[in-house]
Amino acid sequence: MQHIQITTTTKAEQYKELYEQLVHILDQETDMIARMTTICSAIKEAFNFYWIGFYRVLNENELVVGPYIGTLGCLRIQKGKGVCGTAWKLEKTIIVPDVDKFDGHIACSSVSKSEIVVPVFKDNQIIAVLDIDSEYYNAFDETDKEWLEKIVELV
Ligand code: SME
Repeated sequence: MQHIQITTTTKAEQYKELYEQLVHILDQETDMIARMTTICSAIKEAFNFYWIGFYRVLNENELVVGPYIGTLGCLRIQKGKGVCGTAWKLEKTIIVPDVDKFDGHIACSSVSKSEIVVPVFKDNQIIAVLDIDSEYYNAFDETDKEWLEKIVELV
């Protein structure tokens, strides 16, 4: 069995290690779901965030959950709704330091305290978003944004 090896201490260095291993692991894989689910697993191993998953664009108005690692996620999210639907609509990464302060946040679990949602682009179109939730406030910053935007290019 393969594991993600994290040997460094700063978050940026850890993301770099994670990214390089992911590039190698995904090297020969062409199936998008296999790539997405492997990315979720690798992020979980590296950082052990509470909930890590994709919402895929199903049609022009709706996201559908999966693949993900964590407790039950909401199945569908409408465009412009919640953090995920807002990141999709605005076509940019959203960092939410405190989910209770984000107007319209969709609470799939009361454990989640902060969140980052990163759009996944293919041919200049958003095909999914990556949603990561933490049980701690202020868990995500510009370093997470920078590296997660790079990681989702591997989808
Ligand atoms: N909180 C998200 C919904 C998805 S769950 O956190 C897994 C949102 O507001 O879009």
